Amino acid sequence: MSRLDSMLRRLAAQRDGLNWAASETAAIPGDVVDLGLGNGRTYDHLREILPQRRIWVIDRVLQCHPSCTPPEADFLQGEAEPMLAKLYESGARIAMAHYDFGFGIKEKDVAEAAKLSPLIAKVMQPGGLLVSGQPLTGFEQIKGPDTIAPDRYLFYRA
Ligand SMILES: C[S@@+](CC[C@H](N)C(=O)[O-])C[C@H]1O[C@@H](n2cnc3c(N)ncnc32)[C@H](O)[C@@H]1O
Repeated sequence: MSRLDSMLRRLAAQRDGLNWAASETAAIPGDVVDLGLGNGRTYDHLREILPQRRIWVIDRVLQCHPSCTPPEADFLQGEAEPMLAKLYESGARIAMAHYDFGFGIKEKDVAEAAKLSPLIAKVMQPGGLLVSGQPLTGFEQIKGPDTIAPDRYLFYRA
C-alpha cells in the first residue's frame, strides 16, 4: 500500500472512530481530552461533533493551525505526565479520550502509551471510551465501528 493510501486510511479511521465513540458515550457525563494537539485536526473535529462537551487538549507545544487553537483554559501545555496529573487535580473526569501522541518510532510510541496508561485511567469516567492510535494497557479492549479494519485504530473501555 502506498504511503498516501496508508495515510488516507489512518485519517478515515480517526474520523470514523471519533464519530463512533462520541455517539457511544452520549449518555456518559464528563469532558473529552485530545492527547496530542499537533496540527489541530482531531481537536477541530472533536469540537465540531461535541459542541456541548469541554474539550481538554494536551501537547508539549502549541503549533496547530491558528483556526484550531484551543481556549487557553483548556490547553494543558507541557509533558504528558505532569499535564495528566494536572488534569486529574482539576477534578475533570473524561467520558471520551483520543490518544494521538507519538514520535513515529513504533517501539518508543508503544512504550510511551504503556507508561501513560495508568495516568490516563485516573482521569477516565467509569465506562468512558478511549480511541487510540497506540496500544494502551489496563483497559478493556473493545471492537470499534465496522468501517475500521481491526488494529488500524484501537478502542478501549475504562
Ligand atoms: C501525531 S501529533 C497529533 C496530531 C493531532 N491529533 C492532529 O490531528 O493534528 C502528536 C503530538 O503529540 C505531541 N506529543 C507527543 N508526545 C508527547 C508527550 N509525551 N507530551 C506532550 N506532548 C506530546 C507532539 O508534540 C505532537 O504535537
